[in-house]
Amino acid sequence: MNVIETISAYREWWFRHRQQTIGLVPTMGYLHQGHISLIEQARRENRQVVLSIFVNPLQFGPSEDFERYPRDMERDLALAERAGVDIVFAPSVHEMYPNPMKTTVEVKDITSRLCGASRPGHFAGVTTVVSKLFHIIQPDKAYFGQKDAQQAAVIEKMIADLNFPVQLVRCPIIREEDGLAMSSRNVYLSPEERREAAVLYESIRAVEGAFKQGEDDAARLLEIGERILHTAKLARIDYAEILSYPDLEPVTALKRGQWIYAVAVFFGNTRLIDNAILQR
Ligand code: PAF
Repeated sequence: MNVIETISAYREWWFRHRQQTIGLVPTMGYLHQGHISLIEQARRENRQVVLSIFVNPLQFGPSEDFERYPRDMERDLALAERAGVDIVFAPSVHEMYPNPMKTTVEVKDITSRLCGASRPGHFAGVTTVVSKLFHIIQPDKAYFGQKDAQQAAVIEKMIADLNFPVQLVRCPIIREEDGLAMSSRNVYLSPEERREAAVLYESIRAVEGAFKQGEDDAARLLEIGERILHTAKLARIDYAEILSYPDLEPVTALKRGQWIYAVAVFFGNTRLIDNAILQR
């Protein structure tokens, strides 16, 4: 495994390997089993696997956790090597943004709901850095976790609208034993918050269960999900919504199609997200 920190060094590597399929796993580091599952899938499907590790300042709001976002490069490199990564692309902020950015890539409409409503500017930061990564890495496939279902939908739309020659591969949510979706931010939780955080998945399961039993009224499904979220004393609900997926349009009845039940919940300053795709 090689670690590459500059765009020019990556281009040299790419020039020698451009005939081979390249799978990109874009991350902000502090790897967990969710990331490893993306790497493993990329490993199965590509000749070369590139893992990017870059905490992207553009996608954090001024009062968000950019500075304190967990980082541990040494541990990440050991995990990446064990998972079969060929290249770790780990640029500095200066390498990615040597000058103030005057160009941004922005997907409209679907970025104004759910996390986009709570985190203005977040998705423009994501699509801008992912565009840069696609141009730099030149992957055939890029692997994204379904935990960030809105992010996957936004990037898929960007790929389609701007004709990026990249296939987005969605990978399933990887969960802890009690159902909490794996996330680098889980380390922020106190033991009591961590215990209560299982409520997100309980809420998801309850909505999925009612939906499978035939409930098709969005308001009633939402009520079932929210009732469970409210049982966690330390939780502050940011949003709980049922929308069409991937268009993220409001719905009243879930008759035929695909929807998302998505939740975002604060425990202290830590914001956790989770979702389920409902299909009929
Ligand atoms: O999902 C993430 O970790 C980030 O949003 C991404 C896609 C690596 C862009 O910075």
